[in-house]
Amino acid sequence: MINFKKEIANQISNITNAQIEEEYIEKPKDNTMGDYAFPCFRLAKELKKAPQIIAQEIKDKIDINNTNIEKIEIVGGYINFYIKKEKIVKTVIDEINLKKEEYGTTNIGNNQNIVIDYSAPNIAKPFHIGHLRSTVIGGALYNIYKFLGYNTIGINHLGDYGTQFGKLIEGYKRWHQEYDIENNAIEELTKIYVRINELCKQDEQVLNECRNNFKKLEDGDEYCKEIWKKFRELSLKEFNRIYDMLGSKFDSLNGEAFYSDKMQEVIDILQKSGKLEISEGAKIINLEEKNMAPCIIEKTNGSSTYATRDLAAILYRARTYDFSKAIYVTSYEQTLHFKQIFEVAKLLGLDEKYTNNLIHVPFGMVLLKTGKMSTREGNVIKLDDLLNEAIARAKKIVEDKNPNLSEEEKSEIAKKVGIGAVIFNDLANSRIKDEIFEWDSVLNFNGETGPYIQYTYVRTNSILKKAGYVPDAENIDIENLLDNNSIEVFKLIYEYTNTVTIAADKNEPSILSRYLINLSSAFSNFYNNNKIMVEDKKIQDARIYLTYAVNIVLKSGAKLLGMEMPDKM
Ligand code: ARG
Repeated sequence: MINFKKEIANQISNITNAQIEEEYIEKPKDNTMGDYAFPCFRLAKELKKAPQIIAQEIKDKIDINNTNIEKIEIVGGYINFYIKKEKIVKTVIDEINLKKEEYGTTNIGNNQNIVIDYSAPNIAKPFHIGHLRSTVIGGALYNIYKFLGYNTIGINHLGDYGTQFGKLIEGYKRWHQEYDIENNAIEELTKIYVRINELCKQDEQVLNECRNNFKKLEDGDEYCKEIWKKFRELSLKEFNRIYDMLGSKFDSLNGEAFYSDKMQEVIDILQKSGKLEISEGAKIINLEEKNMAPCIIEKTNGSSTYATRDLAAILYRARTYDFSKAIYVTSYEQTLHFKQIFEVAKLLGLDEKYTNNLIHVPFGMVLLKTGKMSTREGNVIKLDDLLNEAIARAKKIVEDKNPNLSEEEKSEIAKKVGIGAVIFNDLANSRIKDEIFEWDSVLNFNGETGPYIQYTYVRTNSILKKAGYVPDAENIDIENLLDNNSIEVFKLIYEYTNTVTIAADKNEPSILSRYLINLSSAFSNFYNNNKIMVEDKKIQDARIYLTYAVNIVLKSGAKLLGMEMPDKM
């Protein structure tokens, strides 16, 4: 595909003898300012001239006759470039014709390894809506990087270790006959957890018992280990139900417990570094210089911490995966934790190529109207319920719209639409924003939602089906695709790879979500203003080809977000 940006950068380089990188060429926010712009102040210092003068000189020297540029305008110190519409359409059609469903894929990732740590629910606790966000955002990043030619490794760093297991074991010991753990593990264990916490608040002695249990678990006590294993297996069975519904997959389920025998090395290295201090009986790394609370490496009673396990994981992942980036997707509540461990990781003796590429990708909280969710208080929306409710509501809508479909088809569509709605809701806005969870907006089938994108896709599908053919790309008459609505669509399709690349650079799937909404609405505008099946075969072919291109990109983009497309709706 023609890289217009690069062409412009080269032209400016040639004229000015300065090194103009492709990245210097901007995309104006407003398309009345052209397709690309070059801010001339970038050259002001080097050329010792005012930006406006540089702009004029560049403009005068470019002979647009031999280029893909239609027109050049100067606004302030900017040069705005307008690309010839037919060139955009032509290059997109050629590329679609070449790559078909693979349109947009690249190999800029060069097979480098990227570790993505996401989902990571805690054993014996509900998989809540915050973990859903991590699962969905992490899953999207996984697909996005893969699309760009990276080798992605998805890790579910399960919360299967820590002092809470001491508490659970204590509660289990005391009351397990009263609870139906085999059949309803997480709910029942949550009740035990709430109850034992209550007791701990009243009785210091019980709290000490709990702490001891965890210590025993770490020391390999058979009884504690056996109960722990049971909690883990039963919980995973429930988590897998959710992963199946969401279509989530992981390359590794090495959770916190996996590092239980790998933490001593961390402590030894830190000890040798001379930075490990004893404070009130605990081993810590002082981070005062960095204006942070100390990172606790070992508690007073000798237990390990969440941070130590993460440090062991950094060592392990650097050695095992030789990563070019290690990404962690959690709520912003853990920002300090990651700042601390990324700082302490510098003391582990790892190459800087690892420690400089540890990236926390925080996201906003999911709030209920009644405030924050907390496992301890027991006020959480359970994800099982949420997903099933979404499917049920989608089913009602499908039934209204398509009463004649078979029961099986309706269920199939309802699943894709319901789950798609929930997934898209989590990716629709900039991830750092808090999100107030409301059924109505999640499941709003009109507006900027997953179902809207699915609906647009289904429309392209039925157009293509009705047409019964995809026209030959070589014979498309580009003249028929130069109206504003068509151009709008082609410009967006041209930007697909670029959009995915920016989403990866910023670890921000919402950039792709917005793009798919824009593409859907551009297609809707096109569709509302143009009949597709018309008498003039040339016009019809051109419009079908546009529809075909939109069909491919919507499906591909939705798949990157983790959304499945229904064939009908
Ligand atoms: N289990 C943690 C939680 O639920 C998230 C773990 C994130 N990953 C990590 N390597 N710390 O909050």
